[in-house]
Amino acid sequence: NKPVTTSFIRKKKEEGTPITMITAYDYPTAKLVEEAGVDMILVGDSLGMVVLGYDSTVPVTMEDMIHHTKAVTRAAKTSFVVADLPFLSYHGTVEEAVKNAGRLMQEGLAKAVKMEGGSELVPIVTRCVQAGIPVVGHIGLTPQAVHQLGGYKVQGRDIEAAKKLLEDAYALQEAGAFAIVLECVPEEVAAHIASKLDIPIIGIGAGVRCDGQVLVFHDLVGYASQLAPKFVKRYTDVGEQIHAAVRSYMEEVEGRRFPATEHVFHANQETIQELYG
Ligand code: KIV
Ligand code: NA
Repeated sequence: NKPVTTSFIRKKKEEGTPITMITAYDYPTAKLVEEAGVDMILVGDSLGMVVLGYDSTVPVTMEDMIHHTKAVTRAAKTSFVVADLPFLSYHGTVEEAVKNAGRLMQEGLAKAVKMEGGSELVPIVTRCVQAGIPVVGHIGLTPQAVHQLGGYKVQGRDIEAAKKLLEDAYALQEAGAFAIVLECVPEEVAAHIASKLDIPIIGIGAGVRCDGQVLVFHDLVGYASQLAPKFVKRYTDVGEQIHAAVRSYMEEVEGRRFPATEHVFHANQETIQELYG
């Protein structure tokens, strides 16, 4: 399969073909979702919650992001890998932001970076794009701002907020972002934004009329993810299968049924003779 590119993703929007994106944070997951043929893999800072067990994405560091991005890009050769810039890694100087975005590409081997925010990010997006770093924007519910937003709530419900979202989307597109994640907004607002913008709008909790969808891997397979929000669909329950497998293993160990003959090695006759007489 040919590697997915930004122009391929853009073309999907033009053709009206939905773009598929899933998060992954490690080698086996990246391998599995790439084999399934997903367009884009997001190394989301949601890893702080679903793999590191934090209460929010706020504690996630650049080192965490690089570590996990490296693991994902070792497996993903076809899917387009986007890595999140973590909390506060793009809120100092523009130079610092570009340097951190560059690290996700040079050390993590990501193909693009994602950052949360609207028009206030224009100088940073512009500089990243000038430097050859493809940028994905992220507006609506921006989890790094959870303590400011007062929880994980639907955004853009009233007309003022909806207009602000559209303005932010335009500003990011103008600055050179090649796609935007739009999280947890009413579907009517999301559909309006997707229809106005030339670049793909990847929705999560934003309805079916976006140009693509993204979900957190652990939520969609039921892999020990915490209380999932309304917009998540759990396609399978691997947690249940893992519980069953671990319980079977324990039972067999406790009943001395594992390991069985096919799992053991044998000493040669001479050794057995010496040991047992
Ligand atoms: O970190 C993440 O997983 C994300 C998606 C929810 C879009 O940013
Ligand atoms: Na994120």
